[in-house]
Amino acid sequence: MSLAIIVGSLTVSWFVVPVLLKLTVFKPAKCRSSVRLDGKVVLVTGANTGLGKVTAKDLASRGAVVYIACRDVTKAEAAKRDILSSNSAAQVNLLKLDLGSLRSVRDCADAFKQREEKLDVLVANAGFGSLGFSLTEDGVESHLGVNHLGHFYLTRLLLPCLEKAGTDASKSRIVVVSSVAHKMARGPMIQYEKLQKGEVRRNAYGQSKLANLLFVKYFDSLLAGRNITINGLHPGTVKTEFFRNYFPYRLLNTMLSILCISFYYMLLTEEEGSQTNIWASVSEELEGVSGKYLKGCKISSPSVAAQNVKEAEKLWKWSCEKTGLPHEL
Ligand SMILES: *[C@@H]1O[C@H](CO)[C@@H](O)[C@H](O)[C@H]1NC(C)=O
Repeated sequence: MSLAIIVGSLTVSWFVVPVLLKLTVFKPAKCRSSVRLDGKVVLVTGANTGLGKVTAKDLASRGAVVYIACRDVTKAEAAKRDILSSNSAAQVNLLKLDLGSLRSVRDCADAFKQREEKLDVLVANAGFGSLGFSLTEDGVESHLGVNHLGHFYLTRLLLPCLEKAGTDASKSRIVVVSSVAHKMARGPMIQYEKLQKGEVRRNAYGQSKLANLLFVKYFDSLLAGRNITINGLHPGTVKTEFFRNYFPYRLLNTMLSILCISFYYMLLTEEEGSQTNIWASVSEELEGVSGKYLKGCKISSPSVAAQNVKEAEKLWKWSCEKTGLPHEL
């Protein structure tokens, strides 16, 4: 009798409660737009796995010509096959892109420009996360280098294509995948020197995600009067990525998934987690909306630090210096 009660209450708290919560209070947001993207050109970075791949797949299913830009060409080819297997009409192209190398970013932009004149949507999705310290090919701390600087450079090099695509009624879009982790960036600003010396390791990811939003803020102010919008976002916290980022060891990962099964269930699937990426890229409600932080398919508020104009300008200057680009667009 008492065993039945124990088993019963465990079942309720462990399985029924999370299921009910996810169906009600924590219902994952969904992009409800059925907009078509026929004739539009889209580029998604880091689209070989996870949210990037699901985003690319969704945009391709809407008729867009999709470019997936990844570091590992073999994995990118597998992603392309996967997208084609569920939609044989998908128009998917591959580009090689190592965001930790400015040379590679330049090559990628050139390769894109050889094939396309215009770009309607750029999804800066690729993200690097590690607890260790490393430098990019150009000698910049890797989180800031890959997550911010590589995307800064790519976006600026592709700006003429974005400009060509945008019209008054249908502006081209830059979507920057940041993270709620930007709020964990301790201190109000990017600590360039400490990052560079490897003194803010556990915080480096958060700092780079704060940089993503400062980039959105400053770029938005320069884009006034052009037919281009830029927004930053937090994607859903996804099972695969969460456990990969925090518990990078497979055995531990599996054990934790079983132990924390109710928590695990509360995290999102890749389809659920990529909805804000898709919403930011396509939704009619966001037409003309720029400089915002999006979360759960809604406009949300980033941290105070992410709205600091001086810090945004400082990051812009630093990025121009590192890439040799002029301050003005
Ligand atoms: C914005 O698009 C309109 C067409 O809708 C075009 O006439 C105008 O020149 C564009 N503006 C810029 C700054 O490119």
